[in-house]
Amino acid sequence: MLVFGSDLHPLPSTLARSDLARGRPSYAERRMKRNLKDKTILISGASSGIGRATAMACARAGMHVSMMARRETKLREAAAAVSALGTKAHYFVGNVADPGAVKAWIEEADAALGRTDVVLANAGYGASIPALDMTDADVRSMFEVNVHGTLNVLRAALPYAMTTQGGLKHLLVTSSCLSEMGPPGAGVYSATKAAQDSMAQAMRAELASEGVSVSSIHPVGTKTEFFEVAGELGTPGARLDPPKILMQSPDRVAKRIVACLRRPRPEVWPMRTARLAAGLATVFPRVTAWGLQRGWDKQQAKHKAR
Ligand SMILES: NC(=O)c1ccc[n+]([C@@H]2O[C@H](COP(=O)([O-])OP(=O)(O)OC[C@H]3O[C@@H](n4cnc5c(N)ncnc54)[C@H](OP(=O)(O)O)[C@@H]3O)[C@@H](O)[C@H]2O)c1
Repeated sequence: MLVFGSDLHPLPSTLARSDLARGRPSYAERRMKRNLKDKTILISGASSGIGRATAMACARAGMHVSMMARRETKLREAAAAVSALGTKAHYFVGNVADPGAVKAWIEEADAALGRTDVVLANAGYGASIPALDMTDADVRSMFEVNVHGTLNVLRAALPYAMTTQGGLKHLLVTSSCLSEMGPPGAGVYSATKAAQDSMAQAMRAELASEGVSVSSIHPVGTKTEFFEVAGELGTPGARLDPPKILMQSPDRVAKRIVACLRRPRPEVWPMRTARLAAGLATVFPRVTAWGLQRGWDKQQAKHKAR
C-alpha cells in the first residue's frame, strides 16, 4: 500500500481521492513540491563529478546521503564534506558491476541512514574510440558498468524504497544527451546511454501503479573527470570533446536533479536547448549525419597534422 509522507498536505479534491483509492499519487500531489528534509539518497559514482555534486546539493537540501564508488580516499573526502553540512553521510567502497557488492552497499546504507527514499544510479564512464576498434572485452566492460551496473543498483534498492514508511520512492538514472544520438568516437558509450534511457522509460510505466517515480538525467558535456577517463581509455585521434558552448558545471546538473526530487519529472535536461537539438537531430537524420561526419573529418585532419 502506498503511504503518503507526513510533510505532504491532505488532498481534498475528488480527483485526488480517486487516485488515492487506486494507490498512486494524484495529479495534484505530483504537482506539489516535496519536502526533502531528513529524507535519504543513495548515489553510485559519488566519488567525483555529477555524483559528488549531487550529494552536496542534496545535503544542502537537508537529505542524508550514502555514496558508493571504487576510490576510498575520494569517497572519504566527499563524506566529510557532506557531513560538514550537518546531515548524515555514509560511504561504501565497491564496483557497480558486482551485484553482490551493490546489495551489500544498499543493505548497509539503509541500516546506517534508517530509510531509503531516493536512489541515483550514476556510476559510469566513456571511452573515445570508434565502435569497431573496441575489443569485445572493452565493450562488455562498458555495458557491465553503465547498463548492468544501473540495473544492479535499482534492483537492489527498490525493495528498500518500497518498504520505507512515507518514502519518496524515486529512482533516477544518469543517462546523457547522447541517449538520442551516436557521435563518432562514442558509438558504444552512446549505446549504453540509450539503453539506460529505454530502461528508465519502461520502468516509469511499470512502477507507476506502485507509486514509484522514475527519472532519467540527460546532461550535455559536464566539467568532471569524465573526459580525462574517456581520453585515457580511448585512441588519440578519436577524442571529440563537446564545444565550450555545450559544457556545463556538475553543480548545474545537481541543482536540476534536486529540483526533480522536489517535483518528479520523467526526464531532466539540465541544458534545455540540448533537448530541442536532440529532437531535431532525430527528425532530420541526413542533416545530423552530415554534421557528425564534418566534425569527425575535421578532427581527423587536425590529428594527422600534429
Ligand atoms: N561529464 C559528462 O560530460 C557527462 C555527460 C553526460 C552524462 N554523463 C554521465 O554522468 C555520470 C557521472 O559521470 P561524471 O561526468 O560525473 O564523471 P566522473 O567524474 O568520472 O564520475 C564517474 C563516477 O563513477 C564512478 N565509477 C566509475 N566506474 C565505476 C564502477 N565500476 N563502480 C562504481 N563506481 C564507478 C567513479 O568513481 P570511482 O572511479 O572512484 O569508482 C566516479 O565517482 C556517468 O554515468 C556519465 O556517463 C557525463
